[in-house]
Amino acid sequence: MALLGILALVALATAKLAPTPLDHCAAIAGKQWVSPLEARACMHSFPVHTNVKENIIEVLNKTIAMHTSVNYQISAPKPFDKARYYLFSCNDVHEDLHKDLARIRQQDYQSEFEFHLDVFHTFRRLNDGHCVVINYCYDSLYISYLPTPLVLLTAADGQQNVHIAPEAFTVASAEFGEEIEFWQSILPGKLRGQLETLNGAQVLTINDQDPFVTVDMNALVTGGYQSFGTRQNSFFSSYYRGANGWLYQMGNFAQQVHPLTDVVKLTIKRVNSTSIDIVTLPYRSRFGRASKNFTDSASYRANNCLATNETNGVDMYAVSPSIRQQTSEKPLPIAYFQQQPPISRKEARRHPVNVLVDALPLSDIDLPEVMQPSEPALNESYNVAQFYMLNDNATGVLALGSFSAANFSAFQHSLLDGLVKLKSLGSTRLVVDVTNNGGGFICIAHWLHRIIIGSKATTEPQAGLDTTIRAGPLAQLIVRRIVKDDMDPDTLLYYNPTQWTNASHVPFTAETEWLNPLQNLTINGHEDNFSQRLGQECQPFDVEPPQKGLFIAKDVVIISNGRCASSCSLFSITMSKLEGVRTVVVGGKQETPQQYCGVVGGQSTDFSTIDTEIKSVRLKNNTLAPPDFMANIVQGITWRLGYAIDDPLEPEEWQNHPADINLPLTMEMVNRPVAIWEAVSNEVFRTATPPPLLVQNK
Ligand SMILES: *[C@@H]1O[C@H](CO)[C@@H](O)[C@H](O)[C@H]1NC(C)=O
Ligand SMILES: *[C@@H]1O[C@H](CO)[C@@H](O)[C@H](O)[C@H]1NC(C)=O
Ligand SMILES: *[C@@H]1O[C@H](CO)[C@@H](O)[C@H](O)[C@H]1NC(C)=O
Ligand SMILES: *[C@@H]1O[C@H](CO)[C@@H](O)[C@H](O)[C@H]1NC(C)=O
Ligand SMILES: *[C@@H]1O[C@H](CO)[C@@H](O)[C@H](O)[C@H]1NC(C)=O
Ligand SMILES: *[C@@H]1O[C@H](CO)[C@@H](O)[C@H](O)[C@H]1NC(C)=O
Ligand SMILES: *[C@@H]1O[C@H](CO)[C@@H](O)[C@H](O)[C@H]1NC(C)=O
Ligand SMILES: *[C@@H]1O[C@H](CO)[C@@H](O)[C@H](O)[C@H]1NC(C)=O
Ligand SMILES: *[C@@H]1O[C@H](CO)[C@@H](O)[C@H](O)[C@H]1NC(C)=O
Ligand SMILES: *[C@@H]1O[C@H](CO)[C@@H](O)[C@H](O)[C@H]1NC(C)=O
Ligand SMILES: *[C@@H]1O[C@H](CO)[C@@H](O)[C@H](O)[C@H]1NC(C)=O
Repeated sequence: MALLGILALVALATAKLAPTPLDHCAAIAGKQWVSPLEARACMHSFPVHTNVKENIIEVLNKTIAMHTSVNYQISAPKPFDKARYYLFSCNDVHEDLHKDLARIRQQDYQSEFEFHLDVFHTFRRLNDGHCVVINYCYDSLYISYLPTPLVLLTAADGQQNVHIAPEAFTVASAEFGEEIEFWQSILPGKLRGQLETLNGAQVLTINDQDPFVTVDMNALVTGGYQSFGTRQNSFFSSYYRGANGWLYQMGNFAQQVHPLTDVVKLTIKRVNSTSIDIVTLPYRSRFGRASKNFTDSASYRANNCLATNETNGVDMYAVSPSIRQQTSEKPLPIAYFQQQPPISRKEARRHPVNVLVDALPLSDIDLPEVMQPSEPALNESYNVAQFYMLNDNATGVLALGSFSAANFSAFQHSLLDGLVKLKSLGSTRLVVDVTNNGGGFICIAHWLHRIIIGSKATTEPQAGLDTTIRAGPLAQLIVRRIVKDDMDPDTLLYYNPTQWTNASHVPFTAETEWLNPLQNLTINGHEDNFSQRLGQECQPFDVEPPQKGLFIAKDVVIISNGRCASSCSLFSITMSKLEGVRTVVVGGKQETPQQYCGVVGGQSTDFSTIDTEIKSVRLKNNTLAPPDFMANIVQGITWRLGYAIDDPLEPEEWQNHPADINLPLTMEMVNRPVAIWEAVSNEVFRTATPPPLLVQNK
C-alpha cells in the first residue's frame, strides 16, 4: 500500500513538473496582426471531435438535397468541361459532393482545421459561389495580406505582363497603418523603406516561376465561378461600388482567407529601373472584422467555433411573436459573407435574392480617392447604384456594385430616376458597370432589364429566367405539410405555394402541390426530380415602369471584370441574349476566353433558412432532415435554377457567356473607373469597326 502510495505521489509530481502544453491561441490573443505561422499554430491546435465531424458531414450531406446542382456538378458540359491551366488541363466543374463527403468521413485528420480545409475546398471545387461551406471558426478568422496587390496589364505592343498595382502603396499604407513598417523594414538592401518604389513594377517571376503558374494554381482552388478565366481574374486587384463608397478588392494574391502561405518571392523590374530586384515578402495575418476576441484556446473555441442562436433555423410557429419578429428582422447569418449589403430574413422572403457567398467578407478597403470618379454622382444615385455623365455629354454611366441595398423600394426608384435623369441631361448611350457585382434582389435585376429596354415580349411579364426547384422527397414532404395540413397559416415559408407562379406566370393557390407534376430527369447518370417549370413573381412591379425603353439596346454596353454573378447574371444574360446588348470584359489573359458573367443560379438560400422550413412544418425528426449544426457554420445552396434562353430545357448555369469584347487594361487605366468607362465609350460606341486595341471574343 505504502509503495503504491509513493508511486502515486511520484506520478503526481511528475505530472505537475511536465511542461503544460503551450497554448498557441493564448500566445496571439488580443493581437491585431500576427504571422501566418502563429495563426496556424492556434488554428491547428484543436483536435477533431468525432461527434462534431459526423454532425457537420450529416448536415451538409442532407442539406445538399435542396441544392439544385449536385448532379450537374459531377461533370459540367461544355464550355466548362475542359480548361487549359498553365501546367495541366482539368475540368472546370467535376465534383461529386456525396462521394467526397463519404471520403472525408473515412479520413483521419491531424486537426479540426485540416478537416475543415478539406470540406471547404471540396465545396470550392464546385466553382459555384452559391454552394459553399463557411466555418466562422476558421474562414477569415485571420485574413492574410501582402502590401502588393497585382494587376495584369497589356503594353502598347500587345504584350501582357503581371505588375504590382500602381496604387499598391497608397492602398496598403492607408489600410494597414503602422503595420506597413513591417514590410518596409524587411525589404532587402537599398529597397529598405522604399516599398512605394515597387508600385507598378513588372513581376517577372513568382517563387521562381512564370507568374501564371501561381495564377492558375489559384484558379484551381479559389472557387466562386465556373469559368476558368474569371477565376484567373480573381487573382488580381479590382474595384467596385459599395454601399457607402468606392471600394478596392485586393485580389487573391494579396488577400487570403486562410493563413496558409508564409512568404512569396518576387523577381521584379521596377518602373524606370534597369536592375532586376528579388524581394521576399512575408504575408501578415490580421484578425478578421467578424472574429470574436479571445484570450486562450478555450475562449477562442467558445466565442468563434460553436453554433450560435443564429446558426440553425427556428420553428416560426413555436416562438413568441416578438422572437419571430426579432428573428425575421435580423440579418441572415450568412449575410456577412454574401456579396451584398446585409439584409434580413424578412426582406429576403419578401424580395428573394440570388447572391454569391464568398469566404472573404465584403471588402471595406477604399479605392484611393484620386482613382475614384472626380465629378460627383447624380443626386438620383442611391447606395450601390451611382449615376455619372461622361465628359462627352452623351454617355451616361450606371455603376452598379450589387443588386441589393438596404431599402428595396428606394433602390428601385433610384434606378428609374437616375436613368431618366441621365437622358434628360442628353445621354443617348449607357454604360452599365457591374464589376464585382455578386447579385442580390432577383426582382431588381428584372426591373433594370425592363426599364432600360421597355415593354416587349422579352420583358413582360418575364424579364428574367423561368426556374425549377429540386423536388426530392424532403422538399415534397414539406410542401405536403403546408398544403394538406395547413402548417404555414401565416405564409412565412419559402415552400408555401402562394408566392410562386406557374410557367404561365399565374400564382399558385394555397391548395396547389406546386412541385407537381415532377420532372424525372437523369443527370450524369443519376435520377433526379425537379418541380414543374416556374414563372416569375416580380411583375406587376410596385412602381409603374415607363412603357418605352429608356435606351436602345445597341447603345447600351455592360462591362465588368467577369465577376458578375447570380442576379447580376440574370440581368446581363437577358440583356445580352434577348436584347443584343453588348458585353465587355475588362482585363484578363489574352488566350483565355472571357465570360461576361457566371454562377447564374435562379435563387439562392442557406441551411438556416431551409432548417426554418423543416422545423416550422415539424419535420425535424424525419430521417431526411439535417440535424442542427453543432459548429458555427453557414452553408449556402442554389434553391431555384434558371432555364436557359437558347436551350429552354437545360439550365442557363452551364451555357456559354462569352463577352463580345475584351478590353485590355493599361497602366493608365487599371482600377480607374472613369478611365475605363471613357475607353469603353470611345472604342465601343464611336467606331463601326473594332479598333485595334479591342479583341473580338466571339
Ligand atoms: C476586441 O479586442 C479589441 C482589441 O484588443 C478591442 O478594440 C475590441 O473592443 C474588442 N471587442 C470586443 C467586442 O470586446
Ligand atoms: C449522404 O446521403 C446519401 C443519401 O442521400 C447517403 O446515401 C450517403 O450515405 C450519405 N453520405 C454520407 C457521407 O453520410
Ligand atoms: C519614370 O520615368 C518617366 C520619364 O522620365 C517619368 O515621367 C515618370 O514619372 C517616372 N516614374 C517613376 C515612378 O519614377
Ligand atoms: C441571440 O443571442 C444574442 C446574444 O448572444 C442575443 O442578444 C439575441 O437576442 C439572441 N437572439 C435570439 C433570437 O435568441
Ligand atoms: C444635388 O444635391 C446637392 C446637395 O444636396 C445640391 O447642393 C445640388 O444642388 C444638387 N444638384 C442638383 C443638380 O440638383
Ligand atoms: C459638355 O457640357 C459642358 C457643360 O454644358 C460643356 O462645358 C462641355 O464643353 C461639353 N462637352 C462636350 C464634349 O461637348
Ligand atoms: C425606403 O425608401 C422609401 C422611398 O422609396 C421610403 O418611403 C421608405 O420610408 C424607406 N424605408 C425605410 C425603412 O427607410
Ligand atoms: C397556370 O395556371 C393557370 C390557372 O390554373 C392555368 O390556366 C395554366 O394552364 C397554367 N399554366 C401552366 C403552364 O401550367
Ligand atoms: C424516372 O425515370 C427512370 C428512367 O430514367 C425510370 O426508371 C423511373 O421509373 C422513373 N420514375 C418515375 C417516378 O417516373
Ligand atoms: C422522384 O419522385 C418519384 C415520385 O415521388 C419517386 O418515386 C422517385 O423515387 C423520386 N426519385 C428521386 C431520385 O428522388
Ligand atoms: C421529435 O421526437 C421526439 C421524441 O421522439 C419528441 O420528443 C419531439 O417532440 C419531436 N420533435 C418534433 C419537432 O417533432
